[in-house]
Amino acid sequence: MSDATPQALPLQAFPSPFRRGQANPRGAAGAPGATGTRAPTGTRDATGTAGGSRRPPESAHAVVGVEAARPDADVDAAPAPGQAPGFIEFRQVRKTFAARRGGAPVTALERIDLSVARGEIVGVIGRSGAGKSTLIRLVNGLEKPSSGRIVVDGVEISSLGERQLGPVRRSIGMIFQHFNLLSSRSVYGNVALPLEIAGVDKAAIRARVEPLLEMVGLADKRDRYPAELSGGQKQRVGIARALATKPSVLLSDEATSALDPETTASILDLLARIQREFGLTILLITHEMSVIRRIAHRVAVIDGGRIVEQGRVADVFANPGHEVTRSFLDSETGRRVPAFVAERLQPDPIPGGRAVMRIVFRGEHATDPVLSQLSRELGLDLNILSGSIERIAGQPFGILLVALPGDADTLARARTFLDARRLHTELIGHVA
Ligand SMILES: Nc1ncnc2c1ncn2[C@@H]1O[C@H](COP(=O)(O)OP(=O)(O)OP(=O)(O)O)[C@@H](O)[C@H]1O
Ligand SMILES: [Mg+2]
Repeated sequence: MSDATPQALPLQAFPSPFRRGQANPRGAAGAPGATGTRAPTGTRDATGTAGGSRRPPESAHAVVGVEAARPDADVDAAPAPGQAPGFIEFRQVRKTFAARRGGAPVTALERIDLSVARGEIVGVIGRSGAGKSTLIRLVNGLEKPSSGRIVVDGVEISSLGERQLGPVRRSIGMIFQHFNLLSSRSVYGNVALPLEIAGVDKAAIRARVEPLLEMVGLADKRDRYPAELSGGQKQRVGIARALATKPSVLLSDEATSALDPETTASILDLLARIQREFGLTILLITHEMSVIRRIAHRVAVIDGGRIVEQGRVADVFANPGHEVTRSFLDSETGRRVPAFVAERLQPDPIPGGRAVMRIVFRGEHATDPVLSQLSRELGLDLNILSGSIERIAGQPFGILLVALPGDADTLARARTFLDARRLHTELIGHVA
């Protein structure tokens, strides 16, 4: 795989429909251009782009319009007082689907406030039916909100008509769980498609597609067809296609859900590298905390159409505030209470018993010998029931479950000691 940089990719295919001049907080060189792969889900797609007449037969999977309409970029996008404007902003968004045949209307999203900074990776996690796909489809205008606003780099997506949406959609790449490649086209042909539809000439297409194939590690597969590729390779094609016209935003709808854990890790690492090199803003949705842990800077937890919790990934992992978040995190090894402890846990202190405490170690403290100090300085017998240390958002992050004497005095002294070291602690319960 080569380390192609934005500068090494020579084609600026389209003018950005978005405002220019906003600094990238991560210092990466954003290269907003345009792209548009489109969701393939039949009736739920708004497919009326002006480029429709140039669409090849299978291109409902990857529609890119060609009109040059430029939406008015100066819509009122002022943030709430004290709040920095995000690159992608949801403000009090509600989405209701109309009733069908006597059924009740479905409220898929309610009171959504979400802000994604430029160059940031934000993960949205939720159970099936929580509203994740609806949320992501609002960003590229495939769905319209029933109320509220969605603003991308100062452009209010929710107020645009189909004609104005064309250029905006071309600046927003999208990748899908089932890849949505055109089976009749080679790897090269799939990646080239958005550029072909946009009328880019052959030499310029080659100059863009070949480095992209290098970047995703598929240069040697350029003439293969999707049926000849593994799932991970197909998703690499999907990623290259999504980047073909230099988007500033990448939307990912469960892009790794059909992949095994090892392939998932390699695809997520590729996305993280692309984010760094291109300064892309990525909004990804998933039902797996392991995806969030590996790649996202911030996370929003969605349940029943509402965001029930959001924050920096390490903060949410350390101290999940909502039951849904905790249930997602319980499948993460470090937080799980082992069965042999869980089945003996009591909520109230047991005379002569032990307390079970979760201690979260983060950043600079993750590798401190805190437990031996605690044991020595407070004269406590501690035993470790479970533990793990890993990296979250690039920082060491450890969770230990320990048992210590369960009387109120010892617990208070232990808490004081741990609080002084700014470690997050949680009393899980008591055992005999
Ligand atoms: N076009 C539509 N018409 C009617 N209801 C819809 C439509 N699209 C989505 N819904 C409903 O909105 C809710 C949220 O759906 P959505 O597809 O956003 O969920 P999701 O979180 O992506 O789920 P999954 O993880 O299963 O993909 C569901 O109750 C769904 O049935
Ligand atoms: Mg979905």
